[in-house]
Amino acid sequence: MGGERGAIGIGLMGLGVVGSGVARILHEKADVYARQIGYPLTLRRVLVRDPKKQRRFEVEAPLLTTDAADLLADPGVEMIIEVMGGEQPAYAYLREALSAGKFVVTGNKEVMAKHGGELLALAREHNVDLLYEASVGGGIPIIAPLKRDLLANDIVAVTAIINGTTNYILTSMGKGGGGFAEALAEAQRLGYAESDPTDDVEGIDAAYKLAILATLAFHMDAHPEDVHREGITRLTGADFAYARDLGYAIKLLAVARKDGDRVQLRVHPALVSQEELLARVDGALNAVQIEGDLMDRVLFQGPGAGSLPTTSAVVADALDAAVSISNQVYWPHSSRREAGLTVMPMDDVVTRYYLRIGAADRPGVLAQIARALADAEISIASVIQKEAAEGGAEVVIMTHGAREASMRGALAAIAALDGVGGVEQMLRVHA
Ligand code: NAP
Ligand code: HSE
Repeated sequence: MGGERGAIGIGLMGLGVVGSGVARILHEKADVYARQIGYPLTLRRVLVRDPKKQRRFEVEAPLLTTDAADLLADPGVEMIIEVMGGEQPAYAYLREALSAGKFVVTGNKEVMAKHGGELLALAREHNVDLLYEASVGGGIPIIAPLKRDLLANDIVAVTAIINGTTNYILTSMGKGGGGFAEALAEAQRLGYAESDPTDDVEGIDAAYKLAILATLAFHMDAHPEDVHREGITRLTGADFAYARDLGYAIKLLAVARKDGDRVQLRVHPALVSQEELLARVDGALNAVQIEGDLMDRVLFQGPGAGSLPTTSAVVADALDAAVSISNQVYWPHSSRREAGLTVMPMDDVVTRYYLRIGAADRPGVLAQIARALADAEISIASVIQKEAAEGGAEVVIMTHGAREASMRGALAAIAALDGVGGVEQMLRVHA
């Protein structure tokens, strides 16, 4: 045990899926952590909405409170662990905690994506740390490697599967497990998807996480509204069948790629070659692939959510903060900001494309589609045409690389063609 000071006091905000795991592990491993740090870590108060609720892990009743001031105004609380979720009141509480000189650990991607820059500056101003490993990838270590281990690199790209719910749904659809609605219902039945799955299926959750990763990887201030975002609700069984035949999986990719002094930031479903490791990240798993100038590529893969995996990240941050508190020394990580990096407009992004077009099965229609693409200087890589009902045809085209603006123009021209029923699908292909 260490010298003069007593236990390190913790205020826990939230006792749900993650909070109950954190409370349990701090309790079960109390002796181990006390030996590791030199002082015990003690839960002083736990903030909840409903103190009467049954919990996965029950803390002593007097610790529970519904008043945040019981944690924020207590000088014995040296560290706040925030696992409540949502933007407010969490954001206000974190500001108050940092302003009061408390160390903060959070798993809150929404707050970190929207307000991370300001909160980290506030932490530096008050000579404390704000740690947020659990905000991206649950149990996967990714924030700390970007802050420290990969710092010698110029990061070129971050390509990630960072939403477990959608990855579960897409994996199930890819195995022929029905359409989107059926796969979502199954994910909800198994507890992966929330009753309101909007943030997951519309890519909002992944956009928060990508903004956090891009900010760290490129030393820029990326915000959720900078991220081009498309969800997975328009994917059909037909797209998965074609993708499989062509040698691809469909994944909700979060991509941040540096291109000169501009950075692409995008979340959308994409075809990923089955040769790529990312294509084989299945079920509720997450994976983050980082490309840098020195280490080439690394891939971090693991459970992106769940009580104990997320607790692993939260408690690691708490132990890190406890070392700083007990040593009374805190070394801020690099806060270097790269001058002049801007977000690339989606119109300028170049990718390959998968198109699925409903067309009349009559002479010249395919030639007209090919002409519209050629007029936009888009080169066709392959074409599949299958007969559909009542004289119709389904045309699937894979293109070579093209600018998004050119593709949008070509699709408008194709949709206006006499023999075309509609452009049913346009997906980007991960290079
Ligand atoms: P959760 O199960 O819904 O738990 C939230 C907890 O916070 C509950 O105990 C709730 O109290 C309390 N709470 C919420 N709003 C409150 C308020 N205004 N005042 C007081 N207490 C409040 O959420 P979770 O799944 O544990 O997630 C917590 C955070 O971790 C979120 O930021 C989430 O994004 C992040 N995260 C979660 C996972 C995961 O696998 N679940 C993974 C990575 C990151 P009551 O219980 O009394 O309602
Ligand atoms: N809803 C998130 C997911 C939880 O499905 O990945 C972890 O942030």
